Amino acid sequence: MKQNLRPMRIAVVGATGAVGKEMLPILEARGFPVAQLVPFASARSEGKVVSFRGHAIRCQVLKPGCFQGIDMAFFDASDAISKEWALKAAEAGAWVIDNSATYRMDPDVPLLVPEVNGSLLKKRVAEAKKPKNKLGAKVRILAGPNCTTAQLVMVLKPIDKLASITRIVVSTYQSVSGAGAAAMDELAAQTVGMFNQKKPQPKVLAHQIAFNCIPHIGGFKEGGYTSEEIKVAQESRKILGLPKLKVTCTAVRVPTFSCHAESVNIQTKKKFKIAAVRKALAAFPGVIVQDDPSKNIYPMNQTSEGDLVESATGRDAVYVGRIREDDSVPNGMNLWIVSDNLRKGAALNAVQIGEALLEHL
Ligand SMILES: NC(=O)c1ccc[n+]([C@@H]2O[C@H](COP(=O)([O-])OP(=O)(O)OC[C@H]3O[C@@H](n4cnc5c(N)ncnc54)[C@H](OP(=O)(O)O)[C@@H]3O)[C@@H](O)[C@H]2O)c1
Repeated sequence: MKQNLRPMRIAVVGATGAVGKEMLPILEARGFPVAQLVPFASARSEGKVVSFRGHAIRCQVLKPGCFQGIDMAFFDASDAISKEWALKAAEAGAWVIDNSATYRMDPDVPLLVPEVNGSLLKKRVAEAKKPKNKLGAKVRILAGPNCTTAQLVMVLKPIDKLASITRIVVSTYQSVSGAGAAAMDELAAQTVGMFNQKKPQPKVLAHQIAFNCIPHIGGFKEGGYTSEEIKVAQESRKILGLPKLKVTCTAVRVPTFSCHAESVNIQTKKKFKIAAVRKALAAFPGVIVQDDPSKNIYPMNQTSEGDLVESATGRDAVYVGRIREDDSVPNGMNLWIVSDNLRKGAALNAVQIGEALLEHL
C-alpha cells in the first residue's frame, strides 16, 4: 500500500455479521488508513458495540444521509441492503466495495480479485476523476465475488496463463460460515443438541446440517443448477476475462465452520507438465502449494498437533494440493483447493480491493 495516505472515514455495513466481524481485525492488522470507523448493522444491533483498535464503537442503523462524509464503504450485509443503499453511498461520494451479489454481473461494475484482475482499477479511477464520467456515481461501485469463486480464480489464473484453460468441473465442500452467522449458530446448536438426544430443527439451511452434507446452496434455477453453482460459472468467466470458459459445478454444504474446499478438474488447450503447474501456482501471489502425499501433506480446513502443514482457517492464503494429471482426458489435471471463505472469500479480498484502489486515488 502507498505510504502516508490520508486517513479516511470508513463504513462497514454489516459489521456484526460473519464477514463484517472478520473485516474489522483485517483492516486493523493491515494498517488500513482509517481515521474513523463507522459500523452499521440492523435495528436489532443498534447500539451494539464492536471493537476497533482497542476502541468500543457503537453500531448505527442505515438512514438517509448516513454516508455523508464517508470515503469508503464496505458492504457486507445482503443483496437487498446493497440494492437499497450502495448507490446512495456512492452518490454521497464514497467508494463502495460490495461483497453482495447485487453488482457482480453488472457489466458497468468491475468484479475484482486484486491478484487476478486488480489492473482494472487504474482505468476505473481515471474514469471517476473525469468531471463528467459516463457512469455517474456508479463509477465508485466495485464488487467482490462469491467466496467459492474468489479462491477458485486465484488457482485458475496461473494455470490459464501457463496452458489456456478450456473447461473446469468443480465440486465444492462449503462450510456453514458461507451462509452467515446464523448458519454457524445452527450447526453448533444441532451438533450439541444431537449429543443430547434433541431432534435437529433446520431454520437457516434446508436440512439438518450436523453430521450431514447438503447438495443445495442458494435457490434452484432452470436446468436443476443452484444459484451458487451458476455464480461460480458466471463470476469465474467475468474475473478471468474468459467469456467462453466451460464451467460446471456442484456446490455442497458440509458440517464445517470455516473454509471452503473445492475439488477441481481442469482441461487446457496446451500440453503441460505437472511440475510446471506446481511452479506456476507456487509463484502466484496469495497461493500456497501444500502438496506432498508421501508426508500426508495437502490443504485442510483444520490441522492438529503433529500435522506438517498449517490449516487454512484464519489465514489469508489459498492453499492448493493433490495436483495430479487426469489421464482420462487430453490435457487434464485434478487439484484440491482450500481457503478461508470469510477472509480471501470475502473480508480480506474486499480490503485488498480497498488497498489497490488507494494505490490509484
Ligand atoms: N459468508 C461468506 O463467506 C461470504 C462470502 C462472500 C460474500 N458474502 C456476502 O457478504 C454479505 C454478508 O454475509 P455474512 O455471511 O456476513 O452474513 P451474516 O452473518 O448474516 O451478516 C449479515 C450482516 O448484515 C447486517 N444487516 C442485516 N440487515 C441489515 C440492515 N437492515 N441494515 C444494516 N445491516 C443489516 C446484519 O446485522 P445484524 O447482526 O444486526 O443482523 C449483519 O451484520 C452477504 O451479502 C453475502 O452474500 C459472504
